[in-house]
Amino acid sequence: MGIRKLVLYPSEPLQAVAKPYESVGPEVAALVEDMFATMYAYEGLGLAAPQIGVSRRMFVLGDPEGNEMCLVNPVIVESEGEEEGEEGCLSLPRVYTNVVRASRVRVQALDERGKQLDFRAEGLLARIIQHELDHLNGLIFLDRVDVLTRQAKLHEWEGIREQMTAPANQG
Ligand code: NI
Repeated sequence: MGIRKLVLYPSEPLQAVAKPYESVGPEVAALVEDMFATMYAYEGLGLAAPQIGVSRRMFVLGDPEGNEMCLVNPVIVESEGEEEGEEGCLSLPRVYTNVVRASRVRVQALDERGKQLDFRAEGLLARIIQHELDHLNGLIFLDRVDVLTRQAKLHEWEGIREQMTAPANQG
């Protein structure tokens, strides 16, 4: 299928708790391929299945340090520290704000072949994992900031979204 259509906020799949996979089969492999293609096409650092309308616990990521992975049924089993950093999201393009996240996490998940993973991450990689995992629980990054920032950024997004979905300006 290739590059999938992105679901923009707000919409049902982005605000739902996604379902876990009971097994990792060929349908996961096919989806992963499309998700990487979509993430790179839109220049994202991560993409969760709900962002293409698939309400399943799975995401892909690719960071500037060359980490590239698919995590199925991911769980953060330990987290430490606190770090503020800027985030954006393919479901609300062109909206950016600082978000406080744990600075180090330990993650357990399956990869796209069903192999058990257990690893530690820090810095940007830890941030991406926390951001994408939030998508599987129906949360976006603006649910992690103070109420005034959230309101201001949602308002900003409404304007951007209107421009994005408006019919092409004639003349
Ligand atoms: Ni996002």
